[in-house]
Amino acid sequence: MTGQGRGEGQIAWAGRSMPVLTAIGERFAAERPLDGLKIAACLHVTAETAVLVGALKAGGAEIALAASNPLSTQDDVADALREYGIAVHARAGVDRATYYRHIDQALDIGPDLVLDDGCDLVNILHTERTDLLEQVSGGCEETTTGIIRLRQMAAENALRFPMVAVNDTRTKRMFDNRYGTGQSTLDGIMRATNTMLAGRTVVVAGFGYCGRGVAERAKGFGARVIVTEIDAVKALDATLQGYEVRPMAEAAELGDLFVTVTGNRDVIRAEHLERMRDGAILANAGHFDVEIDVRALADLAAEVHSGVRPNTDEYVLADGRRLLLLAEGRLVNLTAAEGHPAAVMDMSFSAQALAVEWLVNERLRLAPGVYDVPEEIDHEVARLRLAATGIGIDTLTPAQEEYLHSWRVGS
Ligand code: ADE
Repeated sequence: MTGQGRGEGQIAWAGRSMPVLTAIGERFAAERPLDGLKIAACLHVTAETAVLVGALKAGGAEIALAASNPLSTQDDVADALREYGIAVHARAGVDRATYYRHIDQALDIGPDLVLDDGCDLVNILHTERTDLLEQVSGGCEETTTGIIRLRQMAAENALRFPMVAVNDTRTKRMFDNRYGTGQSTLDGIMRATNTMLAGRTVVVAGFGYCGRGVAERAKGFGARVIVTEIDAVKALDATLQGYEVRPMAEAAELGDLFVTVTGNRDVIRAEHLERMRDGAILANAGHFDVEIDVRALADLAAEVHSGVRPNTDEYVLADGRRLLLLAEGRLVNLTAAEGHPAAVMDMSFSAQALAVEWLVNERLRLAPGVYDVPEEIDHEVARLRLAATGIGIDTLTPAQEEYLHSWRVGS
């Protein structure tokens, strides 16, 4: 197969597991809700993203796409999208400067709307491309880290247009963050190392929706799971779900595999690295490459063997212990594997597409700020996904409706 053919094949394969987004794309093709609008998007350039981009283009949008991570681009998918008329500024393995240049180039489209995953594009718009701000009437943010940054911008009155928090939908957090991150993170770790998880100790740093997903899947493989947290409620929740909870300083000595999923920096730092066992594997599933202090690891290492396996670098410490860093500390699920499965992205990206449509209708009424996706969209996505997978649910009887809505009805 040629590169182009392979990309098309992958997009078609993903589309088979994305019936809801495909149906939305078909409706968009008929109704053209995005006619004449220009969209600059900064998303992981994967087959699933290609299905989303296809739906938006069918709706009439002109789209420029940059990657939201320097290592996550599927190059054959990017080529196929270019053939399809999308301006794709992305290539796997680019350096930091090229990564930012690509976002800048995507912004050259002069967007009416923006789609972001991690808030880098919105950040550049508000710092380096302020000339374009006037024309932007809104956007959507896909991930937890991006929402945190947007809320900080909004709190400082720095955000200049409405942004919809797609990440905060129930269908995104409950399914994409949990099952998607859980499965794809372990997929990446196993593709990179072929390590066995049964009987090993896996340390999961962070017990948000993503961390919970990783912990559940590691447990399912037969690992002993230790959770580290800074939030007392989440830590308590982890203990009640049967996980051991310890500070990283203790967990560092016990783990065979470490997965960071906190959204914060320096979660694994020199004082932890110094205590780790020979052969410990370090992987990050948080959005940015700041969770494992890679510089500290390099400083501690006497030797570095790059690429001992694909996406695996071996750092040999002065006493001979070897620590294995996956994907340079970047998102292991999108670097060493293909990101979340299409079936889960069907829900997140359907919510994204419907949120874009909602934004287009509402944007002139919305002040700058961070907005939740309307609950009806969440329900619509779940309803359509159930229908597409042939699963029926119950409906309330009139008596049940009344019971729920009237305080006059007795118990
Ligand atoms: N984020 C996580 N998984 C993804 C995927 N498969 N495509 C796009 N963005 C993602």
